[in-house]
Amino acid sequence: MTTPASASRPPRAELHVHIEGTLEPELAFELAARNGVALPYPDPASLRAAYEFEDLQSFLDLYSAAMSVLRTEADFADLTRAYLVRAARAGVRHAEISFDPQAHLVRGVPLEDVVNGIAGVLERSEAEHGITTLLIAAFHRDRDSADALDVLERLLAADAPIVGVGLDNAEVGYPPGLFQAVYARAEEAGLRRTAHAGEEGPAQNIRDALDLLHAERIDHGIAVVDDPELVARVVAEQVPFTVCPVSNVRLRAVPALAEHPLPAMIEAGMLVSINSDDPPYFGAYVDDVDDAVTAAFDLTREQRAALAAASFSGSFLPPDRVAAYL
Ligand code: HPA
Ligand code: ZN
Repeated sequence: MTTPASASRPPRAELHVHIEGTLEPELAFELAARNGVALPYPDPASLRAAYEFEDLQSFLDLYSAAMSVLRTEADFADLTRAYLVRAARAGVRHAEISFDPQAHLVRGVPLEDVVNGIAGVLERSEAEHGITTLLIAAFHRDRDSADALDVLERLLAADAPIVGVGLDNAEVGYPPGLFQAVYARAEEAGLRRTAHAGEEGPAQNIRDALDLLHAERIDHGIAVVDDPELVARVVAEQVPFTVCPVSNVRLRAVPALAEHPLPAMIEAGMLVSINSDDPPYFGAYVDDVDDAVTAAFDLTREQRAALAAASFSGSFLPPDRVAAYL
């Protein structure tokens, strides 16, 4: 008899999760009522039923629309708390959480309300949820990079408690090189650097994120398998890749979990972790992702432990803190 995956779930870090993408339909309706915002669905079940996506853009359209309910510092605090409660159940012991400052600024929500709402809850996360956390400000690659630079300067001036920067939203047509100045400024300010690359776009975007942005970590990065030379490089450099297999299936970047390149990435010796990305939208928190890949690829206990260990070693924690988790 095989042991259910849940019985032996290893502790892990989650390195790729968008806090706005953790908004459950029930909380969306609660916040909509609190803020007098109308959602174009009659109830949470109808909103959840709309989570059928053709590609990244069709997801981003709904994700952006649902965000309209997030208006106050308390909303961002409630959103963050709900994620931490669920992540603790999933076995998450450390989370590196992204937020999209531009998505809120364009709606007139003050930057400090967003940052204070999220960071105020993260401050108490270790004591209240047993999860250490780091916060990442992600910029929209389909917006002008001058806007990203401006927001970065505002975050730095406010001494916002961020560990690093990321790059997300539509990938095709918006290559990493557009954001060289933003990443150079982040590096100069001592911030860590990750970037979505090779999700819907080509392997060249991964190479450019490493070479032009000095990205220390790659989010998704599944296109790497199209470029054996790049695979050899990221294996040699042990560049962490935060892979989100269920997200990739739900956004049709891969046709089915069985065809996902995760096993090839592991087999090659890459430093890969598994992550949820936007859990309610894709119907899977990181424990569900663990169950799904364990079943799809018949992963051994050792392979699952290696994925969990890579989640800590690919984190932005200092080496002594990583060692304490391993
Ligand atoms: N890709 C790009 N942008 C995103 C994603 C993603 O998977 N999730 C939230 N914003
Ligand atoms: Zn993502």
